[in-house]
Amino acid sequence: MTTALTHARIETASPAAIAEGGHLLRDGRLVAFPTETVYGLGGDSTNDRAVAAIFEAKGRPSFNPLIVHVADQADIETLVMVDERTRAVIARFWPGPLTLVLPRAKDSPVSLLASAGLDTIAVRMPDHPVARALIRAAGRPIAAPSANRSGAVSPTLAEHVAESLGARVGLILDGGPCRVGVESTVLDLSGERPALLRPGGVPAEALEQALGTTLIRPTDHADAPKSPGMLASHYAPKVAVRLNATAAAPGEALLALGPTDGTLNLSPSGDLEEAAANLFAMLRALDRPEFTGIAIMPIPEHGLGLAINDRLRRAAAPRPT
Ligand code: TXA
Ligand code: MG
Repeated sequence: MTTALTHARIETASPAAIAEGGHLLRDGRLVAFPTETVYGLGGDSTNDRAVAAIFEAKGRPSFNPLIVHVADQADIETLVMVDERTRAVIARFWPGPLTLVLPRAKDSPVSLLASAGLDTIAVRMPDHPVARALIRAAGRPIAAPSANRSGAVSPTLAEHVAESLGARVGLILDGGPCRVGVESTVLDLSGERPALLRPGGVPAEALEQALGTTLIRPTDHADAPKSPGMLASHYAPKVAVRLNATAAAPGEALLALGPTDGTLNLSPSGDLEEAAANLFAMLRALDRPEFTGIAIMPIPEHGLGLAINDRLRRAAAPRPT
């Protein structure tokens, strides 16, 4: 990682550096920034290519849905559906280390890749002036996982980000150590019963008190929320999916990769970051009753190809009825 280290650029989070970070984000580049929990690796959540670049930088072999960060409460209104229960939780805990999983709004501008194809989106308003100033400077909601390579510990100092991600991030805004030091609590409010998906900075007991009900917990085996990739609501096409296809059978749509004709093409140049950016939107576009199925050309098993294949294998797996 020596090369990557050499190129990491850490800047004190001055107003000028924050303004530059806003420009970079609007350009589709990645900017690491401090929050009260851990440093985040930020990208424009409305830009599929920027979101694909986040997954590439994380080096994770699957698409884990990302948290979309906002500067103001009102910013979530166009992204997700907000009911009275949600408003009450927000009034009590935001800004702060609480992420809410909510149903995607119709016409939500958030990239389908950011939510890994789910019908829900995780949103959070961080309690950190640098984070919120950066989001305002970018003028759009910012997708940000913890700013570490997959499998490494979450960074609570700008130097940790540089060590883990190096040149994979355009700019690291240094806001000093993170106050909370553990990730946000993830609370799923998309269903009837609130569910705790990840314990974190806000204690579950505080949420139960505010909601006046117990939470479904990850430890409740009978009723446990499934890991996001396994959720029943996780998008799988209604029509059959066939992998490693060289051509479409009669009636099938062909999802191509590389310089071939297809019904749609994930990336004519074979670029896997472009393919990841297009994956969920193209699967949805081809999921039509006029096709008997979707035939998908082979995706190389390297870089983002690992995550794409992970997702496609699940889309092609036998469905529960
Ligand atoms: O404190 C934090 O939350 C930090 C800072 C940067 O905000 N971010 C963070 O992101 O920890 P990440 O990507 O490392 O973790 C996001 C968590 C994952 O457990 C993911 O599965 C869950 O949020 N998540 C995101 N969207 C979801 C969704 N639509 N449904 C269920 N879980 C979701
Ligand atoms: Mg993480």
